[in-house]
Amino acid sequence: MIKRDFLKLFGLGSLALSQSKMIWANRSNNKWEAIRADYELPTEFINLESGYYNIIPQPTLKAVQKHQNSINKWGSYYMRNHRFNDQDKVVAALAKTVGTSEKNLVLTRNTTESLNTITKGFPWKKGDHVVFARQDYGAMRQMFYQVRERFGIEITEIDVPMHPKKDKDVVDAYKSAMKPNTKFLMVCHMVNITGHILPITKICDMAHKRGAYVMVDGAHCVGHFNFNIDDLNCDFYGSSLHKWLAAPLGTGLLYVNPKNRDILWPLFTERVDMKDDIKRFSHIGTLPCQHHLAIIDAINYHNAIGPTEKENRLRQLQRRLTDALRKNPMIVINTPEDIKRSCAISNVGVKNMNTHELADTLMKEFGIFTVAISNYGSVEGCRISPNVFNTVDEIDQLIEAFQTIAERQSKLI
Ligand SMILES: Cc1ncc(COP(=O)(O)O)c(C=O)c1O
Repeated sequence: MIKRDFLKLFGLGSLALSQSKMIWANRSNNKWEAIRADYELPTEFINLESGYYNIIPQPTLKAVQKHQNSINKWGSYYMRNHRFNDQDKVVAALAKTVGTSEKNLVLTRNTTESLNTITKGFPWKKGDHVVFARQDYGAMRQMFYQVRERFGIEITEIDVPMHPKKDKDVVDAYKSAMKPNTKFLMVCHMVNITGHILPITKICDMAHKRGAYVMVDGAHCVGHFNFNIDDLNCDFYGSSLHKWLAAPLGTGLLYVNPKNRDILWPLFTERVDMKDDIKRFSHIGTLPCQHHLAIIDAINYHNAIGPTEKENRLRQLQRRLTDALRKNPMIVINTPEDIKRSCAISNVGVKNMNTHELADTLMKEFGIFTVAISNYGSVEGCRISPNVFNTVDEIDQLIEAFQTIAERQSKLI
């Protein structure tokens, strides 16, 4: 009896999927309009800043609330008897989504936690050399500055070429910084400020030939465009699921290549004898597990849209914007033109205009919310990150806003 009630209450993932399918089936006119209707959006402005946090659609939000109510009802009974079993199911579903085995994956709260688990647990030796890019996320670079203060490592920061003609241009940027003592590379799968997708497999192959480990910052990639972690041939991979998978805030993943499982010290210890078990990296104590449970609901929603359709739609919105603006001599596009090197995210600046002033103008005068990016190597512009709920009309409004601002600025020169 208890068991039946219990399964009825938890039924991982079923709620979100059935609701969204139902809604979409009733609105056959336009799938993207129907998806938009799944979101509660502010009417005050157009949200084109989904890169920080993808707000979650109502079916997933309802699932989080349902999980929370259930956990609260069943209390320690749930925690003692079902929590870890459910967690395993979430990891298995996630492993399928990101193309690896569940034996290589743990749930974390975000990319920050995933990558710090690696860098703080890596057996650094004084003089080890690390390479990463000036375009990498600030806090991830700071993490290495702390490792340098603590262990005496050496760091080289490179510039990722903004408009590479071929993958080799990017691989060579990392290769040229490598030395005999290079131990470790951190590489963004997608550079968050420009949307540039890097050729990870080729960078890993180059680094491995020279005996270095590669940790991939995939904060923006899971649920954004299709790839299999196993194909990347990387050593470590971290991602935030509250970004493009649209899972609840505070959900992330960490992948550790099985070759490297026992070289790291876990940050939190459950049992020191778990040397060859990925779960040695997943012990973070008691936490709001309704968020982790709802990852399955987010995956179901993502699959109901269709991962390839979602990727194509996101890329189409970005390209509509950047293709229209690239021709304007007053506008600078800090995102590669080559179609396979980007997806939803782009970075757009206006010549002769401060980037913060540009973001303020877009918001205050045109009601469009973006984010100003400055002081990251040579990148100066607003990051534009549309989501599945954004419309073509909203992108057209942004194009018009940029054209108006650019024309105004051209008269000031
Ligand atoms: C490239 C990159 N790495 C890491 C992070 C940190 O992500 P989180 O705050 O979810 O840990 C971000 C956040 O935007 C990011 O863009």
